[in-house]
Order: sequence, then structure tokens, then C-alpha cells
Amino acid sequence: MADQVTMGRFVGRTQQLAWLRQLLARAADGQPLVALIGGEAGVGKTRLVEQLAAAAEEQGVRVLGGGCVPLGEEGLPFAPVIQALRGLADQLEPAELRAVAGPARQELARLVPDLAWDGEAATGAAVLGTGQAGQGRLFERLLGVVQRLAASAPLLWVVEDLHWADRSTRDLLAYLAAALRSGRVLLVGSFRSDELDRRHPLRQLLGELTRNRRVQRLELEPFSGAELAEQLAGLLGADPPTRLLDDVYARSQGNPFFTEELVLAGAGDAVGPGALPPNLRQVLLTRVVRLGDRTQQLLRVAAAAGPGATQPLLAAVTGMSDQQLLEGLREAVDQQLLLPEPGGSDGYLFRHALLAEAVYGELLPGERVRLHSALASALEAGVEAGDALASRAARLAHHWAAAGDQPRALSASVQAATAAERVYAFAEAQLQLERVLALWDQVPDAEQRAGMDRVSLLARGAEAAHAAGDPDRAAQLVRQALALVDQARQPQRAGLLHEQLARCLLWLGDPDALGEQQQAVRLVPPEPSAERARVLGWLAQLLVLVSRFAEARELAEEAVAIACQVGARAEEATARTALGYALVHLGEADAGLAELEAARRLATQAGDVILALRAIVNHSDGLLAAGRLDQAAALALDGLDQARRLGLARLNGPILAYNATQALVALGRWDQAERVSRQGLEGAPSDAASATLPLARAALELGLGDLDAAEARLQAIRQLLPASIPGVQKAGPLFCALAELKLWRGDPEQAKQLVAEAVPLVAANPREAAPLYALGVRIEADRAELARARHPSQPAPDDATAAALLDRLGQAAQGPAAAGLPELAAWHATALAERTRQQGPADPAAWATAAAAWERLGQPYRAAYAAFRQAEALSAGGDRDRATTVLGRAAAITGRLDARPLDSEVTALARRARLQLTPPARTAAPAAGPPAPAAQLGLTPREAAVLALVAAGRSNRQIAQALFISPSTASVHVSNILAKLGVTSRVEAAAIAHRLGLDQR
Ligand SMILES: Nc1ncnc2c1ncn2[C@@H]1O[C@H](COP(=O)(O)OP(=O)(O)OP(=O)(O)O)[C@@H](O)[C@H]1O
Ligand SMILES: [Mg+2]
Repeated sequence: MADQVTMGRFVGRTQQLAWLRQLLARAADGQPLVALIGGEAGVGKTRLVEQLAAAAEEQGVRVLGGGCVPLGEEGLPFAPVIQALRGLADQLEPAELRAVAGPARQELARLVPDLAWDGEAATGAAVLGTGQAGQGRLFERLLGVVQRLAASAPLLWVVEDLHWADRSTRDLLAYLAAALRSGRVLLVGSFRSDELDRRHPLRQLLGELTRNRRVQRLELEPFSGAELAEQLAGLLGADPPTRLLDDVYARSQGNPFFTEELVLAGAGDAVGPGALPPNLRQVLLTRVVRLGDRTQQLLRVAAAAGPGATQPLLAAVTGMSDQQLLEGLREAVDQQLLLPEPGGSDGYLFRHALLAEAVYGELLPGERVRLHSALASALEAGVEAGDALASRAARLAHHWAAAGDQPRALSASVQAATAAERVYAFAEAQLQLERVLALWDQVPDAEQRAGMDRVSLLARGAEAAHAAGDPDRAAQLVRQALALVDQARQPQRAGLLHEQLARCLLWLGDPDALGEQQQAVRLVPPEPSAERARVLGWLAQLLVLVSRFAEARELAEEAVAIACQVGARAEEATARTALGYALVHLGEADAGLAELEAARRLATQAGDVILALRAIVNHSDGLLAAGRLDQAAALALDGLDQARRLGLARLNGPILAYNATQALVALGRWDQAERVSRQGLEGAPSDAASATLPLARAALELGLGDLDAAEARLQAIRQLLPASIPGVQKAGPLFCALAELKLWRGDPEQAKQLVAEAVPLVAANPREAAPLYALGVRIEADRAELARARHPSQPAPDDATAAALLDRLGQAAQGPAAAGLPELAAWHATALAERTRQQGPADPAAWATAAAAWERLGQPYRAAYAAFRQAEALSAGGDRDRATTVLGRAAAITGRLDARPLDSEVTALARRARLQLTPPARTAAPAAGPPAPAAQLGLTPREAAVLALVAAGRSNRQIAQALFISPSTASVHVSNILAKLGVTSRVEAAAIAHRLGLDQR
């Protein structure tokens, strides 16, 4: 990083610098890290980072730098990235640069046209695909550049002034922080913490980043009195008199920038501090008014132009001769007001942004307008401004807007939007298009200027908003467009807008998506066309999502036929995907899987990588549904590899990792599932669209007994999802996991409620409903056992829930879908066995059937649960030998998987039934909580211990001795226990403890 003008020697900051150097050392060891430095304006963030950069360069670390640029609300797309890339181009030989750029060559050339290789033009249509996918791939390519760079030397990349960052830059940083998992990289970001009001967009990014354990944060404080004294001494060349020190400290509050300005403005002069203006802004301006008129004029133009204004631009706007301009610039640089832009371009910056703000703030309104007009005209006339294309367009739009020239601002914003789209800066494109919209009514010839009508503008703005991750706004814009279209006269146009709206709504989880898509099908003319095939195919997909498989099948078949007829491959792939899904769920697994495979082939042939990956997602999910777990896992893992290679891991990675994790968990390959889900989550954006992977992860955590982690994840998902969840795909597993969690936590009543809440949500989809029904019956069985333990003489109450759930499950398992969905039968067998446990006594044969069903499906964990219950039933019936064998089988699985909650149930059963588990030396892993029976009774671990002693006939005094508590505490515990067990005497409590095996401690 080139040195900025620095004044005085470097003061203090020893700890902070040591901390940063330590992070750099760790990063250089191959552990990528991110450091965020916050602090008020002028407190010394830049100076600190420069100090670090200088030390780093000495150690052979490569340093890249760049800052975000304050310019209008839209910002310059990827400004700091462009700066860093330019710096890189200066540091590397062309051949090296080309090697580092690798597959990202074209994209880099697009961002920074002066990098274009061998005159290779960076023009043409978007190379990376459209929308989010394009941006996702750009990000991954940039990640690749960072990794290749870090391979040859450790890399320190500084991105300054994040409070001004454009949205695309913020997204990129979020991505890099999440996706950089190896490589010798330290990413340092700085921002003004005093500029972050509650609604500042950087807040969200900071929040997101702080959840990442590789991100560290530092808040830089103003100087202490002693440090300020040292700074002053450095600036004045002598120790400051106490009065001066006190005065400067009182005004600068230890802020080093203000201190410098106070000194420059004359605080050190003999005149004495009293002569200084009181207000800090005036302090800043005192130095300006001392300059020559021309230099002041130059500064005003530079302030309006924004950072990096070039000599030609300044000359054009000030109308000065070269000689005059150079003199003015020299004076401004000598007086430390301006400095040449680092990196050898011929632009100029204010020494400090606060100075630019002060100068700009002094401009009269009319003068501002005049300056911005002149700047815009100069840019439009082609004066070299040193900007990349997208930045230049954005700058032009900014100046015309600030000049109040609405027609020109409108034209310029359209161009800026196009330029932003070309570099995948969709958020900026959206903002520019929104500005066009805002200007539309004020500009008489808006349509000619924009080159499109208002409907197209709205649709395009919506597309940009969608791609920028704002489906809410996208939906609003499409709705506005729809209001302007006459359906009767332009049915196709209206139909396609309805489809666009449906896509936004689907993303938002809004069930109205279906109605919109149906409207699209009604409107798009029935004659065969690619559009017709598309709207039909998507309607079929939506119907699949809401489990209306038979209708989906019919429409999908129609769509396939039309797509074939008109030769629309991508549309055919979409339609066949819907068809395949529908068939699997209608019981025709083989035919369905064949369609899904065909869709995958078509997508590949169509050369559409995004469609191809989506087809892999769908095919692997189809395999999962059809119980072909090995194939599902292999395909999804292969898809993950491809996504990574194609630079689409962020977009498609989470859902592929979801499919893979589900298959791996079911197959009992938990170690691998743990890895895949963890890596997938690290690279995932943190919004609702990716809520599926956390679900699979939570299911794994439940199995492993990491209940807290699972709970946090599940609650977060529940909040992410809108109140009405149309996607059964999420509601089913979410509620199952929540209810199971409650069960492990010993709260069957809550679990029961959750199941009741979820049943109507999943009822239409047998695949998602079956596990929930079975879990519901299990909960009823637990409740019945508990009731019998409490009141052995009475039959357990039965509110008919279990029978109803079992009935529904039976219908699903015997329905036509069961042929395609083999899990249905296994769930049914499980629920039948749970039903015997509920009614008591549990039937070991029923459990044996369930266990065998899961074994046949190759799902060890579920088989182990059934085996555990089978052993429990066998031992209750007195068949200890078989109980031992069967329980041994369960134990082998829970031990291998490290499935702690189930494992501790298994061990507890072995203990209370005195069954010898092999290998005998096997010790139970520490249980995730108290053993389930105690927890189900609502007992704390301490109370469980007390109960065991009560059961052994001990008195309160003896209990107190044994547990090192006072007798009165023991007595309190005992009364609590009696209350929780719903009994009145110690004898009754002891009986319950015996029955539940709680007397063995
Ligand atoms: N540790 C230090 N020793 C000496 N001078 C310092 C120190 N820190 C900051 N300064 C001086 O204070 C001025 C402001 O510092 P700097 O530009 O680093 O602030 P900043 O926090 O980056 O401000 P901004 O938020 O506006 O970017 C600089 O001119 C710098 O020379
Ligand atoms: Mg700074």
C-alpha cells in the first residue's frame, strides 16, 4: 500500500498493533482471518493499518489496499476491489498476473478494463450467467484469485472505510469471510463506528461477521492525555506547554486528526491557543481560507468531484491553464490538504475525508449545482477521470442528479444500471433503476431517453432487486408493472409478469405464488411456444411444492410435449423435473427417477450450468425419497464438487449439502455428514432461502446429543420462516426436530403440541407426514408410560391421538404413494410398535418388525431405536437372553455413531434390567442430560440422585451426608420430588423409582 502523507511520528497503539501482527502471523500460518477495526472519524484507523502494512511488507507479505468511496447513496460498485486489483496489476509481472487471474481473467478485465489481456475486449453478454448466479460465480472467482495469490506469499488485504461500502462490496466481504477456509490471508476492514446509526446497512454485515469465529473486532479509542502529549511533541518538535496540551485535549478529545488540524491551524504559534476558532469545522476551514483564491477554487471542485479527481477533470471544470492548475495543486499538496492518489494514477484525494466534507459543506447551493453540472458535462465529453466503466457511469449519474438536471440524470442512471449489471453489481443496478423510476414523471421524454417503456423498466428493476437478494422489493415493482399492462391487449406480457411475480413470492415463501403462476398460465397464449412450456412447467413445479402431485403430473406432461415440439431444452428440463418428482410421489419411482435423470441430461446439453446443478439437486432428492440413499449421497456430493468447480457453491451448495447430509445421516455415515453440513453452512448466505441445510444439521445434532446447538438452530429457522409455511419440505423436518428435541428434554406435553400444530401443515404430503405421525405415536407412548409409572393402579388416559395418527399413517402407507416411497412402510411398522408400547405391554415382535424394516432400508440409527425398544419389551417379558442380544445390536450402533441420547437410554436399560452389554468394559458416554426417565418426570439431576437414595430407604439426614448437603436442603428436595411425581409418600416415590430404573445409581 502506498504511503499516505503522514504527519509526525507514530504514537502509541502498541497493544493494537501487536494484536494485529499476531493475527497476521496466524494468518500466515494458513489460518485465514478477518480483522475489523472500528473507531470515530480521524481516530487513527488508517494510520494503524499503514503501520501494520509496512511491517508486513518487510516480512514478505503481499499487501493489497483499497477504500470504499463516498459518492451519493448508490456508491461505486466494487470500488475497493477495483483499487486492489489495480494495485495488484502494478505489483505483478503480466505473466504472473495472468496466472493469478486464472479462470477469472474475463471477470477481472470487466471490473478493471485496463487489465484487459492482449487487447482481449471485456465486452459482450454476461459471461457468468444472470442474476444471483452471476454474482455468485464472480465472488467464487475472486475467491480463487485470493487463494492463488496467497499460495505464493501471505496476503494482507485492507479494505478501508466500509461505512461507505456499496452493497456489492459488502456482499463480497460477507462471502469471503465465510468462504475463505484455508490460505494465508488476513483481511482487514476499517469503518467509522460513529457513522453507523441504527439503520446503517453496514450494521447487518457486522452482525453477520461477528458470528463467524474467524472474524475479530477492535474498537480504536482516541488518544489518552499522555499519548496526545507525545503526538503534539512530535508535531511541534518540542514538548508542548501544559496549557496548550490542555487546550488541545479539550477540543480534540484525543482525536489525532483534530489535533493535527489544530496544530496546522496555529495552535502551536506564539499567538496562543485562545486565538483559535472554537468549532472544529471552522478549524478545518481556517487552513483553506489561508490559501490563494485559485487553490481554494480547486479544492471546491475537488470536493464536489469526489475522491480520485484527475488533473484533466479539474482543469476542465476550473478552466485553469496547466500552469495555474499545477501551481494550485502544488500549494494544496504542500499545505497537506490534497495528496496524490496512491497507486500512481493521476488522481487527487483530500488528505482526509473530513476536510473534503468541510469544504463541500461550505458550498452555496447554486455553486454546487454549477459544479456538478460542469463535472458531469466534462465526464460526458470524455474527459479522463480514471474510473472503471461502472464507476464512471455511476459518477456521471451522481453528478447529474446533484446538478438537478433530471433528464440527463435519468439517461445516466440507465447507463449506470447497465454498467453495474455487467459487473454483477445488482444492488447498485437496482438503485440506479429506482432512481430512473423516481425521475420518470419529471422527464417528458423519459421513454426515449431510457430506451424502454415504464413496464420494462419496472420489470428490469425487479429482476435486479431479485438478483440483489431483495424479493420483497422485486415483488412490489412487478406489481406496479402489472398495474400498467392491459391484460386483454397484451396477454403474453401480462402473463410473463405474473410469472415473474410468482418467482418473487416463491422465494418469500408466500403461498400466493401458486395463484400468480396459474394466472400466468391463463394469460400466456396456448399456441406452442417456449414461453408456454415455461409457464406450464413452472406451474407443475409449484404444484409439486404444495404436494398436488396428480395435477402437477398432467401439466408437466403437457409442458414436456410443447417443449419438445418447439425444441426448448431448458424448458423441457424444468418440466421433466416436475414430472419426475410427481411420479416418485405418486408411487412410480422408476419412471420418476428416469425423468429426473433425463432432466439432468437435458440441462447439461442446454449448456446451462445453473439449470444442470438444479437438476442434480432434484434428482438427488428424488433418489432420497425413493430410498436409494447411496446413490442420493453420491450424486449430491458430486454436485457439490461441480458447484465448487463452477464457482456456484454459494448459490447451490447449501441445498446440495442438505441432500447429501440427509442421505448420510440416514445411512449412518455421521462423521461425513458432520463435515459436509459444517462446510456447507460455513459457505451459506444467512437467509431463509438456505434454511434447509440447518435443518439437516439440527437433525444430526439431535442424534449426537448436542441439544443446545440443535435448539438454537431450530428456533432460528422457525423465526426465519414466515408464519404460514407453504413449503412442507421445511415444515415437516422442522416440527419433527422440534418435537424430538422436546422429547429428549423431557417435555412430552410440548412435543405433543408441536406435532398437533404440524399435522395440518404436512398432511397432503405422505413423505413428510409419515415421520411426524410416527413421532406423534411415540410421544403418546411416552406419555402413557409416564402416567402408568405415576399411577400404576390406573390405566393410562388415552385421548385417541395415537389411534388417529396411526390411522392416517396406515392410509398413507397403504396408499398408491407407498410404492415409490419405501420409508412409509417402515414408519408404519414403527408406529404400530409404538402403539403397543402406548397400550402396554409393548410387543417385542412388533418392534422386531420395525427394526427389520429399517435395516432393510439401510438406516442403522432408526433400526437401533427399534432394537432398543424391542430389547426393552423382551426384558419386560422376562426374555433376558434375547433382550441382551438385541440390546447389544443397538448398543453397537449407538456407540459407533456416538448417538449419545439414545446410547444413554440403551445403557440405562442395560443397567436397570441388569443386561450384560458386550463389550462389557463399554462405558456410557456422558449423557446429554439427565437420563430420559428422570427428565421426563421433570427431575433435575440432583433430584434424581436424591430419589435414588430415597428408593434405597435413606433418611433425610443420611441423604444429606451422602450428597454433602444440609438435611433441610435434602428435605426440600424430597418434597419437590414428591410433588413432581404426584405422590404423597416416600414409599410411593420409591416404587416409581424402581419401575423406571432410577434406583440404580
Ligand atoms: N498513532 C498515531 N500516531 C500519530 N499520528 C496519528 C496516529 N493515528 C492517527 N494519526 C494521525 O491522525 C490523522 C487521522 O488518522 P487516520 O487517517 O488514520 O484516521 P482514520 O481513523 O482512518 O479516519 P477516517 O475514519 O476519517 O478514515 C492522520 O493524519 C494521522 O497521521
Ligand atoms: Mg481512514
